[in-house]
Amino acid sequence: MLIKIRRKHDVTENDTTGELVYRRRRDFIRASTAVAAGALIPGLMIPGNSNASIDFSAVVKSKYSVKQKKTSYEAITTYNNFYELGNGKKDPKINADRLKTSPWSITVEGKCNKPGQYHLEDFVSPYQLEERVYPLRCVEAWSMVIPWVGVELGNILKSIEPMSSAKYVEFHSIDDPENLPGQSRRVLDWPYKEGLRIDEAMHPLAILAVGLYGKELPNQNGAPIRLVVPWKYGFKSIKSIVKIRFTEHQPSTAWNTSAPNEYGFYSNVNPTVPHPRWSQKRERRIGEFFKRDTLPFNGFADEVSHLYRGMDLTKNY
Ligand code: MTE
Repeated sequence: MLIKIRRKHDVTENDTTGELVYRRRRDFIRASTAVAAGALIPGLMIPGNSNASIDFSAVVKSKYSVKQKKTSYEAITTYNNFYELGNGKKDPKINADRLKTSPWSITVEGKCNKPGQYHLEDFVSPYQLEERVYPLRCVEAWSMVIPWVGVELGNILKSIEPMSSAKYVEFHSIDDPENLPGQSRRVLDWPYKEGLRIDEAMHPLAILAVGLYGKELPNQNGAPIRLVVPWKYGFKSIKSIVKIRFTEHQPSTAWNTSAPNEYGFYSNVNPTVPHPRWSQKRERRIGEFFKRDTLPFNGFADEVSHLYRGMDLTKNY
């Protein structure tokens, strides 16, 4: 990715959470304890291992998985992009223990009927965990095939009840400059932000992953919970999510804000639209010698191309 040195925001949105918002969240959390279990409700923060309650033996195979050779666990967990943990591909693994994943909560806000602060478990235990074997195509023209474990994003979002005015969903990664070494550098306007149009987010291919290769997500891969949108370039699949916001207008996203002419909001994998500095026609599959052709929508054109009917994807890249 293009690395630019930017002026870091002096004050983040987290720092400016007002007393009223704080009180509302606290009241919401209290109220939630009185509601019957099972429904998606903002939970209490439970200290301990963030993934302790995830039962990986309950994972089922999915019809959406691709039948391609999986990249090795070793490669998936040692060749990463996670700029909060450093700029080099090996840095995220080296600095993985700087990411504190416990306790973990996810704040939900904006145009929805069930805002609040949710425990990680609320996003996992009511749903079927699935293994989804997906190719991940990075905008840098390399790819991997990763057996994710996760839940359909759309099912979670529906439980939060987006309002009809919610046209987009915005995601924020953890913001912890004291612990995350990359956040002391002005690579991006931290926190890392991403977004999807609501119909993209509701598509059954989009998941929130909590594991890979049948076990807990390693920190360098975005623990404890990250987005996976397999038909888009990898940078849309935001890691270590702490906030989800429903919005009326297209949210600003980290790479698009940093270099709008290089990284579009949609960023669907598209071999016909070159990056301004390199071709996107072919890709290097990690672990393979010869390059292979990049497929439109990363091979998921039949499933998702209808989402973009009538749009000029060379302009809305
Ligand atoms: N999410 C955050 N918070 N920070 C990042 O630097 N990098 C993105 C994406 N999600 C990134 C992120 C990019 S560029 C890619 S290609 C994928 O994560 C890489 O995921 P992986 O390291 O699990 O293969």
